[in-house]
Amino acid sequence: MITVENLSKSFPGNGSPVLALRDVNVDVDAGALYGVVGPAGSGKSTLARCVALQERPDRGTVRLDGLNTATLDGRRLREIRRQVGVVDAKSELHAERTIAGNIAAPLEQLGLDGPQRKSRVGAMLDLVGLTQRAAQRPSELTPGQRRRVAVARALAAGPAVLLADDPTAGIGHEETGAVLTVLDRARAELGVTLLVTTPDAGVVRRVCDDVAVLEEGSLVEQGKVLDLVTDPASRTAQALLPAIETSRAQSARYDRAVDVVLIGFATVGALLPEAAGRFDVELATIGGGLTRVGDTPVARFRVGVRGQQADAALAWIAERGGHVTHTARGPQGVAA
Ligand SMILES: Nc1ncnc2c1ncn2[C@@H]1O[C@H](COP(=O)(O)OP(=O)(O)OP(=O)(O)O)[C@@H](O)[C@H]1O
Ligand SMILES: [Mg+2]
Repeated sequence: MITVENLSKSFPGNGSPVLALRDVNVDVDAGALYGVVGPAGSGKSTLARCVALQERPDRGTVRLDGLNTATLDGRRLREIRRQVGVVDAKSELHAERTIAGNIAAPLEQLGLDGPQRKSRVGAMLDLVGLTQRAAQRPSELTPGQRRRVAVARALAAGPAVLLADDPTAGIGHEETGAVLTVLDRARAELGVTLLVTTPDAGVVRRVCDDVAVLEEGSLVEQGKVLDLVTDPASRTAQALLPAIETSRAQSARYDRAVDVVLIGFATVGALLPEAAGRFDVELATIGGGLTRVGDTPVARFRVGVRGQQADAALAWIAERGGHVTHTARGPQGVAA
């Protein structure tokens, strides 16, 4: 759906140019909710603007549904740009118009007539949960509600792709969930492909299926979020999984300690007790905890292990989808 190949972009800086993107490759499947995460200045907005065809890269290509966008001229370029809705920091609402009027604006530009326009605006208001606010002005809404209106407006003309550049920026914690729900609904109910940039790993944890991690313009990690969390060395695992805090004294009571990542309802709840019973070993949770990635429960536990059949029990856990990592051992052969 969206293919970014060897994309590089620099800007003139003080003295030497700023390399905003360095040879970035990203593949976004149709219907995905794809996150691009990274700290301030890592190139997220530059990448989003290149994909939205608002910015020309120095090198590399952006393909939309296989179409090389670099070859497009004026009229074709405008047509393709309409396939890509954008919500970013510059998406100001029209203060004088009602909420419904704001959402209708892009449809007026397309020349969509009365009843059709009305029905589309109604559907968008429903999608973002603001039907009751249709006749109000933007100033009467909270920042989070205004952001939802901006999303509705970007989706009104029926784009195939929505680019949301840091959609939760400037929105209070309590309103973040509602904005993310709207993005998730756009994917589920309209089949839109979403590319969402964010500095917040929590946004990735809550709604993204796939993630690309940017650092100083370079892509350092990319993949399915649920795959990446099983690799303790990945940045995604480090950012999303519960921290493990155990004292040496806790670990010392066991023969050794291992870290186990478990994914899914059945696995999280049942795998460790079942293994303990089956192999008659002690498997005690001495650190870590439970979180959710999207709707999926994910646990990372540090587990103290004792018993003769410990290796068999751990192998059995791994065979059933648990991801077992052996922690470093201290000088006494005790997990550090
Ligand atoms: N128009 C521009 N002119 C000059 N430098 C720019 C321009 N746009 C971006 N940059 C620089 O390129 C780098 C990447 O910027 P970008 O805005 O893409 O980062 P970002 O990841 O979106 O950051 P943030 O989280 O703060 O939004 C930064 O060093 C930035 O200063
Ligand atoms: Mg940005």
